[in-house]
Amino acid sequence: MIDRYAVLGNPIAHSKSPFIHQCFAAQTQQTMTYEAICLPLDGFITGIADLHQQGFKGMNVTVPFKFEAFNACESVSERAHIAGAVNTLIRTPTGWQGDNTDGAGLVADLMRLTSTLTGKRILMLGAGGAASGVIKPLLDAKIDQLTIANRTPQKAIELAERAAHLRVNGCGFDVVPNQPYDIIINATAASLSGELPPLKAGWFADAGCLAYDMMYGKEPTIFMRAAKDLGATHIADGLGMLIEQAAEAFFLWRGVRPNTVDIRQEVSSL
Ligand code: ATR
Repeated sequence: MIDRYAVLGNPIAHSKSPFIHQCFAAQTQQTMTYEAICLPLDGFITGIADLHQQGFKGMNVTVPFKFEAFNACESVSERAHIAGAVNTLIRTPTGWQGDNTDGAGLVADLMRLTSTLTGKRILMLGAGGAASGVIKPLLDAKIDQLTIANRTPQKAIELAERAAHLRVNGCGFDVVPNQPYDIIINATAASLSGELPPLKAGWFADAGCLAYDMMYGKEPTIFMRAAKDLGATHIADGLGMLIEQAAEAFFLWRGVRPNTVDIRQEVSSL
């Protein structure tokens, strides 16, 4: 039987993951299928049990199931443990092993854009699932400093405490000093509703400052436009992160690393 993979979410119809993984499979000559499956909001656990029974080899998990997936796994990787969320399921004989490739995806995309993360000062806005998924891989990339600021300060503080041994600060937006950062990442869901976290011009003052939005769309996001107006030298959306997290999941499943450069153009025009 052909090896089967899928992305699970709700909604899932507009997911780019099937296209991305089908490109990877063709490029690396892997015989496999990859489909999008919409699970009922209260049907994640029974859904993955059923897919295991059907013989699926692996799954990506997206909104809103990443936390449920974390709890449903037999075991999880360290990066998934620190994230408290799972975006990749790997089949075991009796269930699913969980990993989280979002952070590796972000780091790979930031490396593409800035060539090194060593010594960088990073400010991350947001402390939800998107933010928590990327903390350990960012710190593993030997950055100098990570500050997490959130609308609800307590969530940023708790997230920083969970990674306390990794030198992270957590706070509210209003107490972030008005000083330059090398990279400012928008990991809030604000762009989705056309809103912005309260940004300070001083954050973007560094020559070479990169403003990175984990969201993406046909046009630059509201965060990217505001960051540009405030002086950011470079702006980028999260499409590269999407492609890179997919490549890392593909590598976990198939043991081959696809080339992500060639498919950027095709994915962005979907
Ligand atoms: P995700 O998994 O996409 O991170 P989430 O866990 O619901 O989704 O987290 C959403 C994040 O966006 C949170 O950090 C949230 O701030 P709160 O913790 O205060 O809710 C942030 N967020 C959402 N809308 C926002 C807005 N309009 N301004 C600033 N932050 C916002």
